[in-house]
Amino acid sequence: MMKSVNMEEEISMLKVGLVGAGGMGAVHAAALAGMRGAKLVGVVDAREEAARRLVEQAGVAHYTSLDELVSAENPNLIDICLPTDLHKEYAVRAAELGKHVFCEKPMARSSEEAQAMVEACRKAGVKLMIGHVLRFSPEYRTAKQMVEDGRLGRVGTVRMIREGAAPGWSAWFGDNKRSGGVLLDLAIHDMDWLRWTFGEAERVYAKLAGTEQGLPGEHAVVSIRMKSGVIAHITGSWAQPDGFRTFLELAGTGGVAKFDSADTYSIKTTLRGEERLTHQLESPLEPDGYFHELQHFIDCIASGTEPSVNGEDAAQSLELALAAIRSAETGQVVFLS
Ligand SMILES: NC(=O)c1ccc[n+]([C@@H]2O[C@H](COP(=O)([O-])OP(=O)(O)OC[C@H]3O[C@@H](n4cnc5c(N)ncnc54)[C@H](O)[C@@H]3O)[C@@H](O)[C@H]2O)c1
Repeated sequence: MMKSVNMEEEISMLKVGLVGAGGMGAVHAAALAGMRGAKLVGVVDAREEAARRLVEQAGVAHYTSLDELVSAENPNLIDICLPTDLHKEYAVRAAELGKHVFCEKPMARSSEEAQAMVEACRKAGVKLMIGHVLRFSPEYRTAKQMVEDGRLGRVGTVRMIREGAAPGWSAWFGDNKRSGGVLLDLAIHDMDWLRWTFGEAERVYAKLAGTEQGLPGEHAVVSIRMKSGVIAHITGSWAQPDGFRTFLELAGTGGVAKFDSADTYSIKTTLRGEERLTHQLESPLEPDGYFHELQHFIDCIASGTEPSVNGEDAAQSLELALAAIRSAETGQVVFLS
């Protein structure tokens, strides 16, 4: 019997089980709604009202445990949008059940947990990807490309800012044992981009201001020397009264490039030999990094290729953030091994 095109499409659709229907769960569910080759089939959340919102929108069922979701829907992959300290438990269980794992950043709360996730996925022969979204955000991708194309010459310094109000929508962010505070939860975005663009870090020095226990008001300044010699300065802040802003400045022998989310253009470059500023506009109608990262993982599963932010890679970004935390705690420079 000839299958109809719709049936073919339906069969090739990867089934996604979402665990965690909070802030990021909603973002992922919205991204999955427009995705090629995948569909959401069920949602797990301990809070019924959070799950209800998503399941009604997507027309799928709510389950109270991962095992229940897996036995009812037999998904191909599990998308984990839980508080950070729960990532390991759910990623390992999903792998044991033979499911590919997409997990929000930061990968885990400790190196040991990250290693357990890598090991469980390796043993089960499933793929693991961590949601380091800057690698899929148009402005940060363009900035990396400018570095690789040599448009800025030899880059010497990088300044990055990620600042906003404390994430007051969930209490667990305020418990450093669960979230790792602003260094692990927020500044890790910029640390991962630095590693992706310039290679590994050599040493890190960090200072935390604000409260001792994370929320509200934790504010961090981090200085990193990369093995390549690039010096980076990151500000990560939950101490702003409101809003959210990101900033990136790259300075090299060929000129300076800046991106500020508060500006109307996306990247402004002042290159030697060019008399005017270059504005590169990205359309706000373009899909965002959350869409692109999930689409990338779906495509990797379908094609059998390795995701660009696999577990081993993301574990290195976790190491850097944990080293920054150790530096802030001890007041010492921490060397990466
Ligand atoms: N990539 C990004 O830009 C970005 C932004 C924000 C948060 N995050 C990360 O995403 C993850 C989730 O953050 P969030 O803002 O969505 O948090 P959240 O608190 O809004 O959502 C977490 C959800 O998990 C549910 N939950 C908690 N324990 C559970 C359990 N044992 N079983 C089932 N459900 C449970 C909660 O009810 C809640 O709905 C965190 O690791 C965070 O660091 C990433």
